[in-house]
Amino acid sequence: MPQLAYVNGRILPLADATLHIEDRGTQFGDAVYEVCAVMNRRILDWQPHCARLRRNLAELGIMLDIADGPLTLQARRLIAANGFAECIIYIQVSRGTAKRDHAFPGAAPANLVMPNLVMTVRRFDFAQRIRQLETGISVITQPDNRWGRVDIKTTGLLANVLAKQAAKDASAFEAWLVADGGIVREGSSTNAWIVKDGRIITHPTGTAILPGIARDSLIRLARAAQLQVEERPFTLAEALAADEAFLTSTTSPILPVVRIDGQKVGSGTTGPVVRRLAELTWNEVARQTGWRA
Ligand code: PDD
Repeated sequence: MPQLAYVNGRILPLADATLHIEDRGTQFGDAVYEVCAVMNRRILDWQPHCARLRRNLAELGIMLDIADGPLTLQARRLIAANGFAECIIYIQVSRGTAKRDHAFPGAAPANLVMPNLVMTVRRFDFAQRIRQLETGISVITQPDNRWGRVDIKTTGLLANVLAKQAAKDASAFEAWLVADGGIVREGSSTNAWIVKDGRIITHPTGTAILPGIARDSLIRLARAAQLQVEERPFTLAEALAADEAFLTSTTSPILPVVRIDGQKVGSGTTGPVVRRLAELTWNEVARQTGWRA
């Protein structure tokens, strides 16, 4: 059976799943997206992903005429049609298809144009992420030269793409994006964390990072377990002097960062706080979805 995708209400073979060449997502990056983890055929943290999608659509004034209920049904329908138990689902909403013009198409103030909603699924090996807890991963640093509203999850990801490629070229897993003053914002597609003297530190939300769903979940789990979490900016120098470091995202729920720019973090191996947080994270995954490696 060919892999199936969703395009504006239809499920069809991936090879036939296309949008018009004048989709504004293609021409302007005028689109938002979500990536969700599916384990045991259940979508992890679906409500927070839905809420973030709605917020991002509202920020950009994209009028998606599908309520959460039907959207959930369509996402589940696509997952079931593909028959994947463990996968990721990618959901993208562009402003729509229109003659190329920077300003929104249609007559103000409504700017009516039908958004394009597409979804794809990909098999995903989450057990690999649990194995990586033993080895840890390396990151490099890159300047954060993204636009000023990276809290909106848009498909305008060129700076992230270039940073990730630089990491790949350096045989690293991720690039941490460093702003003026040496502040570590986040990774190209993950949130960044350090641990110092038992305190777990990550950049605060606002406009300078993407408010990660995995980030939010980890903060809640850590605090419920009486661990101390500080949402404050930290510098690259602090990261290099940290006891432990790690990253979080939908596709990497938690991974220890054992090297930054080739320098060991702490002992250069997975530390006790990251191990504890990984236990909390994967227990929460099991609680929500029933999935265990
Ligand atoms: N990336 N920061 C950035 C820049 C991201 O692109 C992502 C997610 C995150 C983590 O967010 P979350 O915990 O909600 O996955 C942080 C997704 C997975 C992607 O673009 O594929």
